[in-house]
Amino acid sequence: MPEPRELLELLHRRQAEAEQGGGPERIAQQHAKGKLTARERLDLLLDEGSFVELDRFVTHRITDFGLAEQRILGDGVVTGYGRIDGRLVYVFSQDFTVFGGSLSEAHAEKICKVLDLAVRNGAPMIGLNDSGGARIQEGVAALGGYAEIFLRNTLASGVVPQISAILGPCAGGAVYSPAITDFIAMVRGVSYMFVTGPNVVKTVTHEDVSLEDLGGADVHASKSGVAHFAYDSEPECLAGLRELIGYLPSNNLDEPPLVPTDDPDDRRDEGLLDIIPDSASKPYDMHQVIGRVVDDGRFLEVHADFAGNIIVGFARLGGRSVGVIANQPAVLAGVLDINASVKGARFIRFCDAFNIPLVTFEDVPGFLPGVAQEHGGIIKHGAKLLYAYCEATVPKLTVITRKAYGGAYDVMSSKHIRGDMNLAWPSAEIAVMGPKGAVEILFRDRIQQADDPEAETARLIEDYSAKFANPYGAAARGYVDDIIDPRDTRPRLIDALRTLVAKRDRNPPRKHGNLPL
Ligand code: HXC
Repeated sequence: MPEPRELLELLHRRQAEAEQGGGPERIAQQHAKGKLTARERLDLLLDEGSFVELDRFVTHRITDFGLAEQRILGDGVVTGYGRIDGRLVYVFSQDFTVFGGSLSEAHAEKICKVLDLAVRNGAPMIGLNDSGGARIQEGVAALGGYAEIFLRNTLASGVVPQISAILGPCAGGAVYSPAITDFIAMVRGVSYMFVTGPNVVKTVTHEDVSLEDLGGADVHASKSGVAHFAYDSEPECLAGLRELIGYLPSNNLDEPPLVPTDDPDDRRDEGLLDIIPDSASKPYDMHQVIGRVVDDGRFLEVHADFAGNIIVGFARLGGRSVGVIANQPAVLAGVLDINASVKGARFIRFCDAFNIPLVTFEDVPGFLPGVAQEHGGIIKHGAKLLYAYCEATVPKLTVITRKAYGGAYDVMSSKHIRGDMNLAWPSAEIAVMGPKGAVEILFRDRIQQADDPEAETARLIEDYSAKFANPYGAAARGYVDDIIDPRDTRPRLIDALRTLVAKRDRNPPRKHGNLPL
């Protein structure tokens, strides 16, 4: 039996070996590519000194392909748990220096273990992905490993927040684990996601496309909508994930952390009086409204570069996390199209699953007309947004700043679909459609027969606007709870949130609803 000291020395040697991953040469190659190593990433993600590693001595079990001699401790993924601002999170970080971070059976088992722990112990799961995909030498065992992860991602969905950072290649079926998680972050020039890479694309469709243009961060953050965040560097990305975690509860039974602020709850904002332009057809930036209302003007925008006609993201009101959904009149007049509907619906469902109240700022002319939208399925995609708002049982607050037209009035967290507090600014226009469209339909003959059709249209528009383009008709029916001075928006929302702290609302028992996919 060796001496205890010798045993300790062996342990330390083995620990140091595990920390080397694929060795100094491959670590240098990783750095030469401008990338951090798996452990450097965890150092930036987690509170200093908080990481506790699990399974560092795991190795693969393959004996073919000369792999029996190449057993690298940890097998290409560093797993364990740590803290972000003192709060527990589970993590995995794939190590590209070991077989290109490829996923073996053992590698998958390590990820599954931390996923199971995250769910059992009610803590968020953060995956740092940097992998060549299924380890080719392992065949079906690697594929099975992925499937085990997909199943756990699915079962964990809505139980603990799941966040994926893509910090290298992520190809083939491997993309589907991040895709099931709640948020995907990518880094320009570092991250790639695609089902098939440029070479296969060239063979199948004869399209010539670069890695970046096929599946880089900007493509997924702005075109496909697959990525929620795009960053310029890995440290920025990892800092961004820390910030995101700060808005989220640890699990679906917890509340998000309360973050005290010096921003007074009763702060009135004079600037809110000057935001709405004098003409209903003029745009303005809804970010200004959000920034003036929320705590310290801090807003973590999600999907900032995708479907800009709707804005979604996290903020705090009186220290409490809220999910903000806002039409953006500065982009496509804030119209709801396919992408905006899907973006909004996904965000609402996340917030609802994790007890984060929804605050909606509404200025919406309706759903986008057109052949492309109809053929693209605006009916089913728009229905996703409606469904998401309808099923949400978290506190729902709405502020109508200007237009609330047509079906979009119903959709955007209206009173009829269980809006808890619906407020309108005096500039609100709540109607089936805008004045011009309405009079052209209602009074077509009269306009055609008029001596001066333009003057007649203008007169009819004026009449219509006086009757419908205001919030009083809705307020008379209780469809808005109050018409408020815009300067009071923050105090009124914070006060309303307080009344809803103990809100109880449930949907009927069922296996699950059938979201129109
Ligand atoms: C085993 C792999 C590997 C893999 C990379 N390596 N991917 N080993 N299985 N999937 C090894 C390489 O052989 C190499 O080892 C080392 O990792 C580094 O890889 P390089 O190719 O030198 O790096 P780089 O030039 O940066 O290219 C990275 C890459 C490329 C783009 C990821 O390696 C690549 O295309 N890999 C294969 C990707 C792929 O098609 N995977 C399967 C996807 S399908 P040495 O020792 O030579 O340095 C899939 C199915 C999932 O994943 C199923 C879920 C349903």
